[in-house]
Order: sequence, then structure tokens, then C-alpha cells
Amino acid sequence: MRFIVLFFLIFLPLYTATPLYEKGERLYFQKGCNGCHGIHAEGMTAYPALANRAKGFLTYKLKRFRDKISDNQQQEMMIPFATGLSDEEIDALTTFLHAFVNVTQEEYDSSYEVWGDGGS
Ligand code: HEC
Repeated sequence: MRFIVLFFLIFLPLYTATPLYEKGERLYFQKGCNGCHGIHAEGMTAYPALANRAKGFLTYKLKRFRDKISDNQQQEMMIPFATGLSDEEIDALTTFLHAFVNVTQEEYDSSYEVWGDGGS
């Protein structure tokens, strides 16, 4: 019995501490953020890239959009998507986006490896 209690004491905090990233990732697709910001959060045209950006900045922007504050007409588009978000959801989304690195970009960069003397 003691071991079972010990098991939960040790593993429950570990389990509950990490899912924020997964929750953020799930929300990103559930809320349709990928539709504009891209499936790798890489951004496209007028939609800014969100991957690997500062958590504080992303949080600040999302809370402003949630409060229906936009600096230009382009940003008005974000308001309906930020309106329903709770503080916890914003925390999850920004945790995920900050930690997420756009893999396509990395793959592209690593293909630049040069082996040997270049074949001469
Ligand atoms: C309909 C397209 C659309 C969808 C869907 C969308 N966004 Fe945006 N998002 C935008 C536009 C447009 C901007 C503002 C671009 C600008 O400032 O010029 C923006 C800006 C942002 C910014 C600020 C980034 C910056 O560099 O200023 C964050 C953070 C953000 N969106 C997060 C999200 C999240 C999280 C979701 C999902 C809940 C989401 N967006 C869904 C279009 C969209």
C-alpha cells in the first residue's frame, strides 16, 4: 500500500507538469490557428510565424486581441480567434509555440551539409 501511495506522489506531479505543451499543440489545431499561421506555425504572407517566438510577446498579443484591441485592420482578423480563449489556454498555446521549432526550416538548413572535398 505504501508503495502505491509513493508511486502516485512521485509520478503524478511529473505527469501533470508536462501536458501544457501537448495541450497547446492540440488547441492550436482545434482552434484553427494552423489555417492561417501554418501547420508548422511557420506563417505565410500576412500571417506571422509563431514558432519559437518569445512566450511573453505571444501572451501579450493574444491577451490584447482577446480584449478586442487591434492596431490595424489586418489584426482585426485575430479577434474572433482570441475571444474565447481562457488564461490557461493562452498559457498552453504560448508554451507550445515558444518551445516548438519549425522542423521544415531545420531540415532545409541541414541539407546544406557538405561532405568530403566536394567531389573534385
Ligand atoms: C483568419 C486567419 C487567422 C487565424 C485563424 C489565426 N490568426 Fe493569429 N494572426 C492573424 C493575423 C492577420 C495576425 C496579425 C498580423 C499583423 O499584425 O499584421 C495574427 C497575429 C497573431 C499573433 C501575433 C503575432 C505577431 O507577430 O504580432 C499571435 C500570437 C497569433 N496571431 C496567434 C494565433 C493563435 C494562437 C490562433 C488560434 C487560436 C490564431 N492566431 C488564429 C491571422 C489569424
